[in-house]
Amino acid sequence: MSWNHPLSRRVTHLKPSPTLATDAKAKAMKAQGIDILNFSVGEPDFDTPDHVKEAAARAIRDGFTKYTAVGGILELRQAIADKLSTDYGIALRPEEIMVSTGGKQALYNVVQAIVDPGDEVIIPVPYWVSYPPIVELAGGVPRYLPCEARSGYGLDHDVLSATITPKTRALILNSPSNPTGAVLSRGDLEVVGDLALRHGFYVITDDIYDAIRFDGGRPENVASVLPEAQDHVLIINGVSKTYAMTGWRIGYLAGPEKVVKAASKIQGQSTSNPNSIAQKAALAAYRGPQDCVVAMREAFRKRRDYILERLGRIPGVSCVEPQGAFYVFPDFSAYFNREFSGKRLGDSVGMSDFLLDQARMAVVPGIAFGEDRCIRFSYATDISVIEKGMDRLEEAVSSLVG
Ligand SMILES: Cc1ncc(COP(=O)(O)O)c(C=O)c1O
Repeated sequence: MSWNHPLSRRVTHLKPSPTLATDAKAKAMKAQGIDILNFSVGEPDFDTPDHVKEAAARAIRDGFTKYTAVGGILELRQAIADKLSTDYGIALRPEEIMVSTGGKQALYNVVQAIVDPGDEVIIPVPYWVSYPPIVELAGGVPRYLPCEARSGYGLDHDVLSATITPKTRALILNSPSNPTGAVLSRGDLEVVGDLALRHGFYVITDDIYDAIRFDGGRPENVASVLPEAQDHVLIINGVSKTYAMTGWRIGYLAGPEKVVKAASKIQGQSTSNPNSIAQKAALAAYRGPQDCVVAMREAFRKRRDYILERLGRIPGVSCVEPQGAFYVFPDFSAYFNREFSGKRLGDSVGMSDFLLDQARMAVVPGIAFGEDRCIRFSYATDISVIEKGMDRLEEAVSSLVG
């Protein structure tokens, strides 16, 4: 008799990613030589800047290839502290910063450090796909806070207040947002800071897209708009999106020393220090010229304007204008009752499948972000691909019967 390889309850309860099936199908079609246009990527299409690559090459040549401090080298933590001071006006010491293997690991470790089984974590919807599983892996319970397109995905303060319970341990904010591109207003940030102070919970602020904001203003988070709440704020950020460095895997947590130490303890017993060479590369990114960041942001802005204009021409489709990041999240639900080849599309997964089959474009169904009416298109791809994709989209949608 063969053994059934028992698995932990933890992993058995972990939901598989809702995008896996669509992803697998897109890859299989591509492998067959079908020309698939990829609108599903979550990373800048630009190359990592040369001076950053050169710093990494230098680190290798200099033999900077050994273990470092678990929470990252002091120079890098100091550079991050300086950046937080310049960008947000937040004063932090290097001891209040932990460098991790990407922003995702910083998030994972800090949730492990603050959430006990049964604790509740408030997650505004639409959310980034990894928040619920990261909370659940710590035994936490996600409490979803619906945010409406008609209010530009701002927070409903009454609903937020009603979602807070004595078990609320944290609230996760992501501004600019993946998937909507929405930027939270100063008013929303102040209300959250005030509630965190009054009820005693943490605000995890995922600021990973903060350099890709189209309003030209200074980035803001709860700690910058309400300094008295800083002690409640846990900042997640990193080089992945800002410097086109997704593969280098450098992110960080910044916050109260006690929490950072606790998260570092978890890091020390799991992955240890982030890659030494990538840390030197990240240091060059933070300390070096910033014109690459401006150039990428400008390119993203042009693409956003173009894709919005094209989506606006499709009858029945509505879309909140993204203020940052590199995604649009249009509502396609007007088409869910339509049919193709005798089959009703039904939902965001049906719509995404239809677009893959008929428009040969890979997108991400909104259900992956908790919002089944929408589809996420990433515009971190060349404008010529966006043009072709929008032509195909228009044609495919107009062929739907209903
Ligand atoms: C909202 C959000 N947070 C965090 C991350 C993680 O970034 P990293 O590549 O630094 O782990 C991503 C990446 O897609 C993201 O979209």
